[in-house]
Amino acid sequence: MSHKIILDCDPGHDDVIALLLAHGSPEIELLAVTTVVGNQTLDKVTHNALAVARVAGLTDVPIAAGCPRPLVREIEVASAIHGESGLDGPELPDPLREVDPRHAVDVIIETVMAHEPGTVTLVPTGGLTNIAMAVRREPRLAERVKEVVLMGGGYHTGNWSAVAEFNIKIDPEAAHIVFNERWPVMMVGLDLTHQALATPEVVQRIAALDTRPASFVVELLEFFGTMYQQSQGFDSPPVHDPCAVAYVIDPSVMTTQRVPVDIELCGGLTVGMTVADFRAPAPADCTTSVAVQLDHHKFWDLVVDALARIGEVES
Ligand code: BDR
Ligand code: CA
Repeated sequence: MSHKIILDCDPGHDDVIALLLAHGSPEIELLAVTTVVGNQTLDKVTHNALAVARVAGLTDVPIAAGCPRPLVREIEVASAIHGESGLDGPELPDPLREVDPRHAVDVIIETVMAHEPGTVTLVPTGGLTNIAMAVRREPRLAERVKEVVLMGGGYHTGNWSAVAEFNIKIDPEAAHIVFNERWPVMMVGLDLTHQALATPEVVQRIAALDTRPASFVVELLEFFGTMYQQSQGFDSPPVHDPCAVAYVIDPSVMTTQRVPVDIELCGGLTVGMTVADFRAPAPADCTTSVAVQLDHHKFWDLVVDALARIGEVES
């Protein structure tokens, strides 16, 4: 059985790997790719998504642009990690295709409503602006969507402040909406993604595939690794976003725990913190869960296998 997903992203080095993992996995039916301001401005991340579609041979999945700024806050981009283009490092080909003329929020709503209830999973790997807008615009999404499996947050650390992770910190109001809807939310946060390190052995395995898409990923990881080393002192970079896709493909790739999570909106030092309450067993109506422990080997097997299936792509 394949899982229908919409990937809402801000490519972004690790977003690209999430996209390739989804594209190369038979367990996933990628219904749409939607973009949102985040790692860079909306025009840049949308251009990146279209260019990467060419690298990956992704021809038939709609790619639509969404919100150009967060709901309330000023735009905050991540040039320190992803560079000025949002995808610095490899040379990007010119896109071969146009962006879908519809707004991403409309694509999300139309796609979910066109499928059977409980069959479409939303996989956001950027700020949650589009997802929040979609569920406000069409409240029935909260019952129609199977699950929201998002990369964002962290219950023991932050990366954009001491306690807040980038995707949540850039649009905490949107995150507040998403975490407080009735749909199930799986938070694949830093607690988990900091285990998804692209070690030299991992990079070697990808390089050994010796295809254009695989070489592209190696170049992405080289740039990403340097930036993570300089800005956060990691020896190998944590490859966050594909972890959310991996969970949809095979939930046994990580352990999870159901726990109430809410978003801090007004703390002087803590805006964007994902506050998880581990004090007692989760109440029966708790809809939020957090990812805890990654099976590193299984995770990278999924990524390498997906790249192997994509194989060579003519440019
Ligand atoms: C998240 O922030 C972005 O820079 C990455 O693409 C990832 O989605 C990690 O905090
Ligand atoms: Ca991202």
